Amino acid sequence: MEEKSITDDGLFNHNLFIVWKPEYDLGIHIIDEQHKGIVSTINSLFYAMQNKHGENVLKSVIGMVTEYTHIHFDVEEDFLRKCGFSDFKKHQAWHNELRHKLSHEGSKSLWDHNAQEFLDFLKDWWIDHICEKDRIFRDYLLSGA
Ligand SMILES: [Fe+2]
Ligand SMILES: [Fe+2]
Repeated sequence: MEEKSITDDGLFNHNLFIVWKPEYDLGIHIIDEQHKGIVSTINSLFYAMQNKHGENVLKSVIGMVTEYTHIHFDVEEDFLRKCGFSDFKKHQAWHNELRHKLSHEGSKSLWDHNAQEFLDFLKDWWIDHICEKDRIFRDYLLSGA
């Protein structure tokens, strides 16, 4: 369900592509903040597309999504190493799939090929990662294993 803003008066389209839900929080502050940050950059990309922003703006926002993804993976992996997470390699491999896709195929070329498809892919990937994959280490840490 998309959220409407009070300023959604036809002049500005403020529909959010991904609406953050409280159940997305893992309870690990830096990771939750970064997940919200990534969702925010994806929403900015959607907004830029909807409002037909120019190539320079789009390029910057696509760069933000990509850079933030890399920063988040590095921070999360450092955190998981320090916690001694037993399934670290498997989790890192999931991150590497997206790292590989964004750097080898190139975020900008994925966007140019089909912008809506790229946005849908990012949305699905991140919702699955936040709600399913990252929950695995959260549950592991909570279990005190
Ligand atoms: Fe992760
Ligand atoms: Fe994550």
